[in-house]
Amino acid sequence: MDELLRAGRAAAELAAGHLAGGRERAVWQPVPEQDRDWLTGQQLPATGRPLDELVDDVRTRVLPYPMGNGHPRFFGWVNSPPSPAGVLVAPLAAAMNPSCAGGEHAGVLLEHAVVRWLAELTGFPHGPGAGLLTSGASMATVISLAAARQHAGRRDGWDVREDGLSGRPPMVMYVSEEGHSCLRKAAELLGLGARRLRTVPVDGRFRMDVGALRAMLARDVEAGLRPFCVAASAGTVSTGAVDPLDEIADVAAEHGLWFHVDGAYGALGILADGAATAYSGMSRADSLALDPHKWLGVPVDCGCVLLRDPATARDAFSLVPAYLRDDSAAGFGWFSEYGPEQTRPFRALRVWATMSHLGRDGIAGLVDHTVRLARTLAEMVEAADDFELLAPVTTSIVAFRCRTGGGESRLDELNRAIPAAVQHRGRAFVTGTRLAGMEVLRACLLNPATTAEDLSVLLDEIRVVAAEMVR
Ligand SMILES: Cc1ncc(COP(=O)(O)O)c(C=O)c1O
Repeated sequence: MDELLRAGRAAAELAAGHLAGGRERAVWQPVPEQDRDWLTGQQLPATGRPLDELVDDVRTRVLPYPMGNGHPRFFGWVNSPPSPAGVLVAPLAAAMNPSCAGGEHAGVLLEHAVVRWLAELTGFPHGPGAGLLTSGASMATVISLAAARQHAGRRDGWDVREDGLSGRPPMVMYVSEEGHSCLRKAAELLGLGARRLRTVPVDGRFRMDVGALRAMLARDVEAGLRPFCVAASAGTVSTGAVDPLDEIADVAAEHGLWFHVDGAYGALGILADGAATAYSGMSRADSLALDPHKWLGVPVDCGCVLLRDPATARDAFSLVPAYLRDDSAAGFGWFSEYGPEQTRPFRALRVWATMSHLGRDGIAGLVDHTVRLARTLAEMVEAADDFELLAPVTTSIVAFRCRTGGGESRLDELNRAIPAAVQHRGRAFVTGTRLAGMEVLRACLLNPATTAEDLSVLLDEIRVVAAEMVR
């Protein structure tokens, strides 16, 4: 144990130094050949090595090559810096190392509390057991759609788990053009078939067009298909748009559809000053996926699914082999009855520590700060002749493009190439996507340490690489 204590102290210092030294180092840097070879090509040692040597290896070979998402000028994808409180307790959860499948222990009990906290924060109705932590929103989506599929079958008098999908009217699901790819992945995995996934067009603000949804539904009913689910977004990944959730909830209610909301990135946006109206209707969902490992900063991995009626997920997943029987598990039962994972990690400790450390006001402050920064960036983009804002800012994502040099035909090529060039310079990190047929840049603001000055650096870095490319 002395060895663990000594090495543990060194590791704690390393972690604290890593978190504190963010601004000075490169946001991201390519891994030099020799370290790449070490990382990918090393052999398993024949005999074990002492713990302090392992800490040294992490210091010299691992920590210098982060993804970049701890840095205040990282604006890529949807990856936040880790909360210090989450980092603090991660080794303690590992030291306890329970499986949170079920049983009577702290990991399981704390999970009930933090799931309730997440429901309370997002204004989602919460009954006991109505949700669970997952690896991420992708798994939360699989659970939601499996519950929706089983529920639809039950309503039609059959059991999808027993009978499968064949010989029944094809189940159809509706997702907007801007819906996340995890929705299609889940539909494919559940045997629903990507062809039965209807892509609903978006309006000028990149929100689901509810008129088009209604028209598609009418056509599918007419054709004898079985519409069963509509999946809306509370914060799309390209522009951060929040779909008209109340109107979509009305359509779902009229047609008896399961109403799923993908709030993986954006559900917490409801806490930003003045944002609540845009989220009206989110609390009417049958299932809500959200990711504590995104805006909240819980160290990866941690997703969550909240369920209006937990019995639906249990009906889709519960399978208790004799060796897992637990005569004391009355009522809610085990978490492993609500999803595909059997052994489940102690994620709740990281969520509990992160949320307790920030408190409700701190969480709302973090969301509000980053939404304000996104608006500032949008204003800077609009004020500049060489940039163009491509979508309104409703959460903390800004979609824009650089218009330096060349005509319209060259802009796609230019904006496609900008992210990698900016990343390689190491002063800022931005990624791109396609929006309305165009190559665009998108900046996602999630870091409480980011300042308006950092936004100027981002735009200047884009200008520098664009000028070089045009030359
Ligand atoms: C809007 C949205 N939905 C779903 C996901 C998938 O979440 P995860 O990566 O946690 O599975 C993401 C990931 O970025 C996302 O932004």
